[in-house]
Amino acid sequence: MPSPASSTATASDKAERYADTRRRIDALLDGPTDWVSAMATVACELHHSFDHYDWTGFYRAVSDDELLVGPYQGPHGCLHIDVDRGVCGAAARTRETQLWPDVSKAPDHIACQSSTRSEIVVPVLTPNDALLAVLDVDSDTLGAFDPTDREHLEALCRDLGAQFGDTELAQFGDTELR
Ligand code: SME
Repeated sequence: MPSPASSTATASDKAERYADTRRRIDALLDGPTDWVSAMATVACELHHSFDHYDWTGFYRAVSDDELLVGPYQGPHGCLHIDVDRGVCGAAARTRETQLWPDVSKAPDHIACQSSTRSEIVVPVLTPNDALLAVLDVDSDTLGAFDPTDREHLEALCRDLGAQFGDTELAQFGDTELR
């Protein structure tokens, strides 16, 4: 049985790793960029910084009731999530972080990968409170995420929402999702 990731690294190791990762992200996003490039960069930097990250990426809010997968790292993710479903949907609906140390206890968890054991999903909100996306991180380890992950990912998502808050929200428009 996998042991909690927190047993292999102290909280201060983890916080330090988040601070380093954050410095790299800030440096990379400090120049001409847009929201898609930013999401791709963040997913890449986070995913390769932490052993307990097995799927790392964004689901974009493309309408009031639908999320579509955005840039991610890891095995393939579900393409489309209704906001009334899953942990990502709960984060989109409540606009609050969802942290599940054991996804088997999460009602309606969508198992895009059967190996997922724990997850954290953080909403990215603009300063006007519009939902841009949710950042979804899944781990194959039980209890992989703790308040340190939550604190650093929430700060990152808050700053992304402020920096990219004027991003035009992608809508389906004339294109039907097939
Ligand atoms: N964990 C999500 C589904 C997305 S994937 O696992 C990549 C959920 O339950 O909403």
